[in-house]
Amino acid sequence: MKKNILRSKLRQIFIKHKLSRKHSEICTDYLIKAELVNAQSHGLARLKMYCDRIKKKLINPRPKIKIKKISSSVSYVDADDSIGFVAADLGINQAIKNAKKTGIGLVEVKKSGYYGLSSFYAEQAVKKNLMVFCFTNAPPALAPHGAKKSLFGTNPICFGVPTGKAPFILDASTSMINRGKIRRADKLGQKIPFGVALDKDGNITTDANKALKGTQLPIAGYKGSGLAWMVDILSGVLTGSSHGGKTKDPFDDFTGPQNMGHLFLTINPKLFIGKNFLKEMKNNIALVKKLPKAKGLVQYFIQVRERIKPIKRILIKIYLYLQKF
Ligand SMILES: NC(=O)c1ccc[n+]([C@@H]2O[C@H](COP(=O)([O-])OP(=O)(O)OC[C@H]3O[C@@H](n4cnc5c(N)ncnc54)[C@H](O)[C@@H]3O)[C@@H](O)[C@H]2O)c1
Repeated sequence: MKKNILRSKLRQIFIKHKLSRKHSEICTDYLIKAELVNAQSHGLARLKMYCDRIKKKLINPRPKIKIKKISSSVSYVDADDSIGFVAADLGINQAIKNAKKTGIGLVEVKKSGYYGLSSFYAEQAVKKNLMVFCFTNAPPALAPHGAKKSLFGTNPICFGVPTGKAPFILDASTSMINRGKIRRADKLGQKIPFGVALDKDGNITTDANKALKGTQLPIAGYKGSGLAWMVDILSGVLTGSSHGGKTKDPFDDFTGPQNMGHLFLTINPKLFIGKNFLKEMKNNIALVKKLPKAKGLVQYFIQVRERIKPIKRILIKIYLYLQKF
């Protein structure tokens, strides 16, 4: 099964759902990327959800996206309920353009939807030698510290920086694990790790289904709760999008568009110390890497190796999945 056959099959599915050829291409690209980095819960597992939301007119397949120029550095995008990939792709590209002109780009996106992995967008900025922050809010999944009910999303925080070699990209949800992994465990009848979620009565559970009905736990207790709140403010309140638990769950809530918000901040890393930035980054990485290793690191590399499956197996799986459409 060749990769371009898969690509063309996915593109056809989006075109059949009335997306333009260009937008179909963007969505295809991001879905395949998610599978190839083994983030399956963000890949094809969501294709049906996208198609269902388009059919129910909750995602606009032909959005009239408006970009309002606030200043040479700052833009405000109204994504017109477009599919999240398209809105975010446009958002990060505008942020890159702004930073190339002025040294800093700030783009806020409203009326968007679920956009996949934040690192997809961060990668585009670091490839253009820019430092980047990406934020998006998400449907309620985390209880604010001290509360019983989910309100914040798993609101990821993503930071990227060019290093002269492989970029540094940190991309982490503010929940102990991301919600997609819990959905996938539920679908496959698998357990979830202990200590990542509570059932609806507030007891720790390893049952994925009970966790989906209950609430997830934030990273680092109250600190993670605060970070999730920060993301809700930056990508929800600031953009004029849904916030405070009002973002609709794309799988379960068909009462309206998601109205998610994203924030992209791009910075020319040479603004203050010029070419020395890359030199200092290199020193910085070398200092971290030369520290004596703690026990358990070997274990981490084994885990990573096991998670990277041969691309061939993934492509066959994608092919079989697409036969359903
Ligand atoms: N669009 C949305 O609504 C939404 C919501 C939540 C999460 N997400 C995405 O889900 C993805 C997964 O998030 P996650 O929090 O489950 O990721 P994760 O826990 O697998 O990784 C988080 C970060 O920690 C790093 N990391 C992982 N294990 C490590 C180790 N042992 N040592 C050092 N570093 C390590 C990873 O490289 C990554 O940068 C992210 O790409 C995020 O953007 C999207």
